[in-house]
Amino acid sequence: MQSFYSKQTDFHPKTLHCVLGIETSCDETGIAIYDGKKGLLAHSLYSQIDLHNQYGGVVPELASRDHIRKLLPLVKETLAAAHLTLSTIDGVAYCAGPGLAGALLVGATFGRSLGWALDIPTVGVHHMEAHLLAPMLEKEVPEFPFIALVVSGGHTLLAQINGIGDYSLLGVSVDDAAGEAFDKTAKLLGLDYPGGPAIAALAAQGHAKHYTFPRPMVTKSGCDFSFSGLKTHVSTTLKNSDQSEQTKANIAHEFQAAVADTLVTKTARALNQTGLRRLVVAGGVAANTWLRKELASMALKHDVTLYYPRPSFCTDNGAMIAYLGYRRLNLGQHDSLSIKTVARYPLDQLN
Ligand code: KG4
Ligand code: ZN
Repeated sequence: MQSFYSKQTDFHPKTLHCVLGIETSCDETGIAIYDGKKGLLAHSLYSQIDLHNQYGGVVPELASRDHIRKLLPLVKETLAAAHLTLSTIDGVAYCAGPGLAGALLVGATFGRSLGWALDIPTVGVHHMEAHLLAPMLEKEVPEFPFIALVVSGGHTLLAQINGIGDYSLLGVSVDDAAGEAFDKTAKLLGLDYPGGPAIAALAAQGHAKHYTFPRPMVTKSGCDFSFSGLKTHVSTTLKNSDQSEQTKANIAHEFQAAVADTLVTKTARALNQTGLRRLVVAGGVAANTWLRKELASMALKHDVTLYYPRPSFCTDNGAMIAYLGYRRLNLGQHDSLSIKTVARYPLDQLN
């Protein structure tokens, strides 16, 4: 397999402080500026949710076109918010995958061109790696090693994080990602895209104990997940019900509880297996307050310290890309002349 990052080289980090980050892997255009000494200077985000909502999910071609429209205005807005000009930027990072091929290419081409024009290094960074390091942008940062639970629309994984680029996978979803299960279940319940926040809001109106959904794979050893069966369970339960609004809310409540329980059980297993007591939770589903409540009680019971990105950095954003770009560029890893993006790339194969 072709390596994701170039080889580490001798490089003088003193020369590289200020990195512009570009996120375009799916339906959010995110731009941010991270400074090694001062931290995050500014960030802007444009969400395409309204554009895709009418189709019930992300339409890849529309996503690419909208990224093209929004990138330049967002870069200008972010520079203005940081009171900077392009001449102060000394590195550019963009998301090189995993993600939607066309959407990734927009950010990659833009980032590479900007680097070329300014004569500064650029680096394409890994989306899931950026998610799991997003808590590094907060006041309380976890020390290595730690366990990361990354739950997004495209991926669900548990990994041991030993340092930048040193990741061992402990478990992944064998079918739907947790966020994908939220999105598909929301569709079944007649809710808008994205499904996660919509289910969370409906679940708050629901009551426990009306239904008992399975907790998939919790009795199986290991830390893998499976969520597609839950969605089928929701579909059958809904078909055999009165389909009232209250019933839908009760179903949403139990679905959310089942996903959270499953995630918590497997995460506790990963912590016990490794003996680690620091846990990072990131990705869009980490914004879910029910899941956070359940993780907090597990953490209390097992003496685990929890680290989250702020809710707006759980979902896709430019800040996590700028931070990771800063770290990778200062390891001397930067792009060659070619532009490459990847729709999929395993986290544990990064260097
Ligand atoms: O990390 P993210 O922004 O994009 C990907 O890399 O996929 O995650 C998006 C996913 C969507 O599936 C969305 O429904 C889910 O995160 N999500 C949530 C919540 N907010 C976003 N799921 C559950 N509860 C939420 N509050
Ligand atoms: Zn993401």
